[in-house]
Amino acid sequence: MINHRLYELNRPVVFAHRGASKYAPENTLASFRKAMDMGAQALELDVTLSRDGTVVVIHDDTVDRISNGNGEVGDLTLAQIQALDAGSWFSVELTGERIPTLEEVFDLVGKQALINIELKNAKKRNTELVQKVAALVKAHNVQETVIFSSFIPKNVRLTRALLPECPVGLLTLPGFLGKLEMVLFPNNSPDLIHPHHSNVSAAFIEKQHARMRRVNTYTVNDADLMRTLIGWDVDGFFCDDLITAQQVLTKNP
Ligand code: G3P
Ligand code: CA
Repeated sequence: MINHRLYELNRPVVFAHRGASKYAPENTLASFRKAMDMGAQALELDVTLSRDGTVVVIHDDTVDRISNGNGEVGDLTLAQIQALDAGSWFSVELTGERIPTLEEVFDLVGKQALINIELKNAKKRNTELVQKVAALVKAHNVQETVIFSSFIPKNVRLTRALLPECPVGLLTLPGFLGKLEMVLFPNNSPDLIHPHHSNVSAAFIEKQHARMRRVNTYTVNDADLMRTLIGWDVDGFFCDDLITAQQVLTKNP
């Protein structure tokens, strides 16, 4: 893991959450391109499976919110998913943007940016998604430029087994449930932990650092909160608003 890109980037690592999602439709190639054009060195995206087993990049269980179609992603074939317009809900100029496959994102990004792949299979908790993503990572030889996260501990364990060279972080919920998860699953993700920002404190970060574990927190768009987290020595945060993050970091070099 020593040569992994994550450990070469300046801290805190700003992850462009679903791409530059304040400036382009989330989780589309336009959003990832925009983030890299804005100087992002790390991206975040969400993956799930189409009905015919292709790894597609989308946050929700359905296509309803971010496209002109409707239905569960897992009930639609890749052809049906890619026939949808995933840009016009965001702006007329981006009409025609599609829901991309993970392979299309790998082809676009290459090794230009680190990618945090969030594994979303809450509805179908089998191993197919993780196995397919691991195979794609190996086929594209991007082990050194991808990290993983999931709210599902089983995904975290399987990813670590399939791709031991890639850092993996357990995502935890806000509030008491998130605190409980970190107690119940303390060793699932020894390299990284991805808590909601409401469960992060200076003492929490210090404790994680003492055990050589990085803290990347979500989703942070408020400048004051960024400054507070940076003061606490946070390792990274997920952010929709790259301009605010850049302004804060410029004043906190
Ligand atoms: O990885 C951080 C963040 O993406 C987790 O929440 O709902 O935006 O996928 P969500
Ligand atoms: Ca996510």
